[in-house]
Amino acid sequence: MQKVYHDMNEVCVKTAEWFVAEANKAIAKQGKFTVALSGGATPRQLFMELAKAEWQKQMDWSKVIVFWGDERFVAPTDAQSNQKMARETLLDHVPIAKKNIIPVPFLATAELSAKQYEVELKQIFSDLPQFDLILLGLGADGHTASLFPGSRALKEKIRWVCPSQPKTGGPERITLTYPVINNGALVCFLVTGAEKAAIVKEILEATPGSEEYPAQRIQPTSGNLMWMLDRAAASALKRGY
Ligand code: 6PG
Repeated sequence: MQKVYHDMNEVCVKTAEWFVAEANKAIAKQGKFTVALSGGATPRQLFMELAKAEWQKQMDWSKVIVFWGDERFVAPTDAQSNQKMARETLLDHVPIAKKNIIPVPFLATAELSAKQYEVELKQIFSDLPQFDLILLGLGADGHTASLFPGSRALKEKIRWVCPSQPKTGGPERITLTYPVINNGALVCFLVTGAEKAAIVKEILEATPGSEEYPAQRIQPTSGNLMWMLDRAAASALKRGY
């Protein structure tokens, strides 16, 4: 399903409303809500929105368990850390128990960090994890989480978590793999800004034989896929926004 809102602010307010509703549904059904967060500019604003008292009072953060869909291989205090961003914008401001925050560990290598995160996930989920919600962003090159075009991580069928190196440089990453992301109950792309319009069109209006981008292979096997866009990001779509 695609939803197009006026601007990034409206995307974040509507996504916050939806996030709270989905959290409440999951908590009513199974006593907890598991969510994998992402990094990026739009999630940052969403997290600040979710930290507001009006949303906080509508959901029970003590029943939320937070994970990350991907992370940079940097210390948790590093400005590029997705964990640090989520803590500063959201997790430090809501009544979530420390034990319910499960960040990607920062060990000697990205490989070790990925392996250890998988071990931690295996202690929590007996089988292939089915997160109630996975938040994703979209890079202008078609990457999502840290599944970059041409990377080995795209081929991973067994591991739940693996390291991944962006060709554009920057720190190595650790990412959930397709088997885990596509097993999500709800998978939601948050995409805003005109610089994403071309790639949004490529992905949502892909034709047979056209180039395949990593984000295109996010197709939940039994869950639902959502795209939350602003008008700028949706502006190249045929339907016109
Ligand atoms: C990250 C994400 C990455 C991101 C996209 C889009 O940690 O940066 O894993 O996949 O979601 O690059 O980022 P923006 O929303 O900031 O453009």
